[in-house]
Amino acid sequence: MLPILWFCAIIASVSAKRSFTIDYQNHTFLKDGKPFTYYAGEIHYFRVRPELWEDRLQRIRAMGLNAIQTYVAWNWHETYEGKIDFERPEADLFRFIKLAQKHNLYVILRAGPYACAEWEAGGLPYWLLNKPGIQLRVYNEPYINAVNKFYRVLLPRIKPLLYINGGPILSVQIENEYGSYGCDHKYLQFLRDLFHKHLGPDVLLFTTDSADYETLKCGTVEGVFPTVDFRPTNDSTVASFYEIQKNVSKGGPFVNSECYPGWFKLWGAPDPKVPTTSQVLNTMTAMANHGGSFSLYMVHGGTNFGFWNGASRSGPVITSYDYGAPITENGGITPAYLEIRKWISDRSNVSLPPVPKNNTVRAYGKLKLKQPFISANILNSAFEKIGQCKRLTDLLSFEEMDHPYGFVAYETTLRDVGTNLTAPNLKDHGYVFVDGVFQGVLVNNLGDYHSLSLTLKNVVEGSSLAIIVENRGRLNFAMEFESLIDRKGLLPDVFLDGQKLTKWDICRDTLDKLSHETSNGLTSIANGIPGAFNITNGAGVFIGEFTIDGEIADTWLNPKGFRKGQVLINGFNLGRYWTSAGPQVTLYLPAPLLRRQNRIILVELLGQDSGFCQDTIEFTDRVISASDRAAELRSS
Ligand SMILES: *[C@@H]1O[C@H](CO)[C@@H](O)[C@H](O)[C@H]1NC(C)=O
Ligand SMILES: *[C@@H]1O[C@H](CO)[C@@H](O)[C@H](O)[C@H]1NC(C)=O
Ligand SMILES: *[C@@H]1O[C@H](CO)[C@@H](O)[C@H](O)[C@H]1NC(C)=O
Ligand SMILES: *[C@@H]1O[C@H](CO)[C@@H](O)[C@H](O)[C@H]1NC(C)=O
Ligand SMILES: *[C@@H]1O[C@H](CO)[C@@H](O)[C@H](O)[C@H]1NC(C)=O
Ligand SMILES: *[C@@H]1O[C@H](CO)[C@@H](O)[C@H](O)[C@H]1NC(C)=O
Ligand SMILES: *[C@@H]1O[C@H](CO)[C@@H](O)[C@H](O)[C@H]1NC(C)=O
Repeated sequence: MLPILWFCAIIASVSAKRSFTIDYQNHTFLKDGKPFTYYAGEIHYFRVRPELWEDRLQRIRAMGLNAIQTYVAWNWHETYEGKIDFERPEADLFRFIKLAQKHNLYVILRAGPYACAEWEAGGLPYWLLNKPGIQLRVYNEPYINAVNKFYRVLLPRIKPLLYINGGPILSVQIENEYGSYGCDHKYLQFLRDLFHKHLGPDVLLFTTDSADYETLKCGTVEGVFPTVDFRPTNDSTVASFYEIQKNVSKGGPFVNSECYPGWFKLWGAPDPKVPTTSQVLNTMTAMANHGGSFSLYMVHGGTNFGFWNGASRSGPVITSYDYGAPITENGGITPAYLEIRKWISDRSNVSLPPVPKNNTVRAYGKLKLKQPFISANILNSAFEKIGQCKRLTDLLSFEEMDHPYGFVAYETTLRDVGTNLTAPNLKDHGYVFVDGVFQGVLVNNLGDYHSLSLTLKNVVEGSSLAIIVENRGRLNFAMEFESLIDRKGLLPDVFLDGQKLTKWDICRDTLDKLSHETSNGLTSIANGIPGAFNITNGAGVFIGEFTIDGEIADTWLNPKGFRKGQVLINGFNLGRYWTSAGPQVTLYLPAPLLRRQNRIILVELLGQDSGFCQDTIEFTDRVISASDRAAELRSS
């Protein structure tokens, strides 16, 4: 009996050793009873291809950080209601967390339900908007029911990964910057109790809000540790933020959960002003001098692949989420990385892993694309064959079509002749055709820019009017009293010379079908796909094939004279390009998406810029911005 008892005693003492708590008097975290601080960096598993997770985590560890932070993007896992997915490689959050542990990184998990993150709808699934009476981020029954159903699947799988249970997760954030949006304490209490129910009583929960009393009053809840976030600033401001946090948290450690070395960018907007590395380092010093923990938002930003970017009221977020982070979108080690690493190694006696080399980037050169034969009828039966169309008297939104993102085409037959088309509620971009001839673009929600009426040409009785609507990404952020609810589509109503138009054929498309088709099947599919039209300005679907000799490495895709659309590479939706708006021109094309034989498809929506070599794209080894492109155009 004795050896067994002894064995049990060891197990008990080992499990008793793992704890993560707060010492309120001494203003510190206690890990296993000893004072602890974290210098973390934010990285989002949903913005990095899963083959590259380990590469990026190694780079973060070699920079000297001892923890990562990530959000959970609910809509990445439950894109369609009830179909909760952690299985596909890019959704295997648990593998990502275990890889962090393998590389000696603790994890601070910002579990939602809302993330912001400049991500589609701030991480909330689109289908919430179909629930009658829905209100987001408050104690509203339809919303709470949906939260319950997702978290009762997610959280039990997180529990064994908590530090206290042998995993790397130190603490878990509920909600995100809630005080900037709402003030519903019943909602925060619900989340607190939900997380404790599934994760146990000993998990350390926290909230994050900006460092002012008004916001903190609304964003915090009894029993959940309040942290703050702020951009690099001077020592006295850091000290005053600490005073505020200490007051609200009733002691405990100073924590800046988001310290921004860079910032995100919007299509068509000027580059944001970002701090210098020395401002970042000074702020890190000031925080560390108060014994503070912090996280750099972002240490590695990654990419908004596919249709996953969010939007602010000023417009959609660009495809790159490089963020000006110390580790660039393709894993590059920047001068800021090296300076931050030095700062950390100077402060600690731990020897850091060596600085990783930059990954290889290759310039595969120019590629001429072909336009497959396409009939003049832009919305023919191919769509209906795949069951994606509905015929209705009134308009439906994307959400009502159960269509998360991408495009919806609306078509009607005009019974009366008219010229003035108005679509006051359209969101976001509408490409208008009469009898297959391009008429122009309707635009909403692009900063102050709205263009919601158009003069049609050559309408006759019985003409077909088609409007292909693009969802540019749902709002990811709303302030108090504003609404996060951002429905997309050709919303009621649409008028021709003041007459309401009815009887619509409504077809949806995420380009999935297009991206998975073989070359042979492409022409017939393209017949029914928005964007697959042969119109005078050169818009349409363009295809190219290329072979890679030697090492398959990362590259940057320069769409050259193409102006706006979507890129598909080997069946993967790489993301939106919008070279005519900028500031982004080149799209990051990571090696794991490439093969020996490759097929690339561009769905061009606006037509090409004359002045560039037509139908040509280029794979290059460097990032090209809008100003580089403008210079190239001037010199050609
Ligand atoms: C906190 O500080 C007090 C006073 O300096 C000290 O006695 C105590 O041991 C400290 N607690 C821990 C956990 O270090
Ligand atoms: C620190 O920054 C704050 C806020 O930007 C400013 O009001 C203050 O004057 C600055 N203080 C110093 C000493 O530079
Ligand atoms: C803490 O906040 C309260 C309420 O805003 C305020 O009255 C008090 O002066 C603050 N205390 C400190 C030490 O700043
Ligand atoms: C690695 O890439 C970064 C970012 O592009 C660049 O600043 C740096 O100079 C590169 N380092 C080397 C050694 O080439
Ligand atoms: C750090 O290392 C130096 C030199 O090895 C040593 O003198 C010093 O005590 C160490 N400091 C800490 C905090 O361990
Ligand atoms: C499509 O456009 C090309 C080039 O402008 C033209 O040669 C071709 O005839 C067009 N096809 C149809 C079906 O209109
Ligand atoms: C079309 O109708 C809208 C709404 O009534 C009006 O604002 C706009 O000026 C009209 N456009 C033209 C060209 O008449």
